[in-house]
Amino acid sequence: MTKDKTITVGRSVKRLDAVGKVTGEAVYPGDMNIDEQLWMKLRFSDRAHARVVAIDTSQAEAVPGVVAVLTAKDVPNNEYGLTMKDQPVLCGPGSHSSIPGADVVRCYMDQVAVVVAETEAAAAEAVRLVDVTYEDLPAVFDAEEALADDAPQLHANHPNNVLCHFLIRKGDMDAGWQQADVIIEGEYHTGYQEHAFLQPEAGVGYIDEAGRVTVVVAGQWVHEDQEQIYHALGLPEDEVRVIYPAIGGAFGGREDMSVQIVLALAAWKLRRPVKIQWSREESILYHHKRHPVTIRAKWGATREGKLVVAESVVIGDAGAYNYTTNKVMGNANLMATGPYEIPNIHLDTYGVYTNNIPCGAFRGFGGPQGAFAAEGQMNKLAEALGLDPVELRMKNVLQEGSLLSVGTPLPLGVSIPQVVESCARESFWVHDRGDWSRAACPQPANPALRRGQGFAAAFKNVGFSFGAPEHSWATVELRGQAEIEEVIVRHAGAEVGQGTHTVMVQMAAEGAGVPLEKVCLIAQDTAETLNSGSVSASRMTFMAGNAIKGAAERALEKWHNEERPAKATYKYRPPATTPYDPKTGKSEPNFAYGYVAEAVEVEVDIETGHIRLVQVVCADDVGHAVNPQLVQGQVEGAVVQAQGYAIMENLISQEGRILNPYLSTYLIPTILDVPDEVKSVILEYPDPIGPWGARGMGEMPFLPLAPAIAAAVHDATGVWMDFIPLTPERVVAVLREHGIGVI
Ligand code: MOS
Repeated sequence: MTKDKTITVGRSVKRLDAVGKVTGEAVYPGDMNIDEQLWMKLRFSDRAHARVVAIDTSQAEAVPGVVAVLTAKDVPNNEYGLTMKDQPVLCGPGSHSSIPGADVVRCYMDQVAVVVAETEAAAAEAVRLVDVTYEDLPAVFDAEEALADDAPQLHANHPNNVLCHFLIRKGDMDAGWQQADVIIEGEYHTGYQEHAFLQPEAGVGYIDEAGRVTVVVAGQWVHEDQEQIYHALGLPEDEVRVIYPAIGGAFGGREDMSVQIVLALAAWKLRRPVKIQWSREESILYHHKRHPVTIRAKWGATREGKLVVAESVVIGDAGAYNYTTNKVMGNANLMATGPYEIPNIHLDTYGVYTNNIPCGAFRGFGGPQGAFAAEGQMNKLAEALGLDPVELRMKNVLQEGSLLSVGTPLPLGVSIPQVVESCARESFWVHDRGDWSRAACPQPANPALRRGQGFAAAFKNVGFSFGAPEHSWATVELRGQAEIEEVIVRHAGAEVGQGTHTVMVQMAAEGAGVPLEKVCLIAQDTAETLNSGSVSASRMTFMAGNAIKGAAERALEKWHNEERPAKATYKYRPPATTPYDPKTGKSEPNFAYGYVAEAVEVEVDIETGHIRLVQVVCADDVGHAVNPQLVQGQVEGAVVQAQGYAIMENLISQEGRILNPYLSTYLIPTILDVPDEVKSVILEYPDPIGPWGARGMGEMPFLPLAPAIAAAVHDATGVWMDFIPLTPERVVAVLREHGIGVI
């Protein structure tokens, strides 16, 4: 396969939103103010698990300036949820809801009352005066305890708090264990992660000039937000409008509702504009997190290094509501055996309800947790077999035609062997006479500092998986007479800061055969665009690209038939995927993938436990880099975010309550922490069905970093650490147990 010849696609053109964001002219939801606007504050649950017996709003209503206090009884259809409607908009008595127990709070992030006032101060004062009477219920804060028969039950219809269970039964386990010369067992623990996007949740709600209930907010999918709102309000679709202005980051953390429904509710009831702005503390306390996961894995390989068998159990703490757990854990189930061909697999993956904060989408979507265990197993197997870790991977990586754990081949365009090789060559490995090897890492003079190197690989799906409906619309309009003077593109896709709108304009210019300057993009407004699906699952370049390309081709045809303006609307549908077979797990899970490998060098201070990232080499097959500089930006951003996940970010939850909801106590990497060097190795093996060969890539550089760091820490210290985050205090404790760093 050769790359298509292109003009605009493949160039590092300047981001369309760059100047506005640098000068501060870009308008984010928190910057919006409307004349005569009211202010909203939310009263959240004061209990981890309790029945709300009564809500007395009289004192709150008596505060001067208070306009309304809304509770459960005011929500026409008191339920929502992205992939399963299991959460009340407001918890309390008098609910109209199909959810059993809509009067129950199940975690501290449940919303109980909405206060709207003339000023922010009045709303803040009144929200504290809402008097809620609770009847406490027994609570459970540990996913494995929640599975026990005598554990408190959070949701009817989910016995033992099992929200979801996925399994894979492939091959013959007895035969697999028979063939295994080396067996490695490990138990891996991963922590929460907070998205920490720059802009906390905010928005305005109002009635627009066409009488629509309109919410201006930051999200990842305007049409999904619209659907959640009109469902809860019991309104027809076309009476609700959602608009995104500039969005201050998302990373999966804006896939679910935060302020959308309550803003719409208040604007609809009061017929006045309403604004809300969360603090950083509220943002950390009240949006979902990455799932903490425990994985128990037992894998076997032959003496020659062929994987023959893998058995794993994956348990994810979903928290109190589904959010996207039923999709995240499905993906974790696929990723838990890595990008390797293993003939015999027995795998069980559970998402479990607890009274903790709900968990959901976060860059990688179950992949990072799966990779942490899978790559840990691979690195330990390499050690046990006396094989180089790159060598072991090359013997087992998926090839064109290989069967996945789910018993079907990958879509064409499998490049993980090339990606692993490129990463090894560009980092610390040499290939000599058919063997991969690495020289010992050079050590600093200071004996307290130990350096080590590690390797990991992964694959990441592009697009919605396992039979979820998947499509994307685009409209392209060509204006002009003798020649095309203007190209108007309509696409709903959200620009969350990754550069997707710039890439869409590049693809539209390419598709219509015009220079970039002639393209005008209208995006992220339900009143102006058709459904694009979400900016998630590394899908937007792929899906929007195919949709825009298809629309441009059809518009050009009309143009050549002398239609003026020439306008075409096109719906791109990728090949269908299928859900897991409930008995075997057999499925065709995805229509496209990206492939990634990372090598890292770390320096461990054995006295303090501090880990420094010296170098990260990240090789990614992106199919075709539509904008190479933006690709590099995604690689560097994902690596640094994964660095935080792996060694710094430690969200502490005690009995369902987050103890460190501040960026002063929940530490994310700053410029002083980032690796000395991130080397992006951008590979372009085209995806046969990607637009101009492009694959999605926003998530994949995240996946292998944590296990590569764990391998490098082992190389530096001789100790396997099977947990993240590897914060200094946790690392130092383990080193001391091994008698390392004792002065
Ligand atoms: Mo993403 S974690 O697929 O928004």
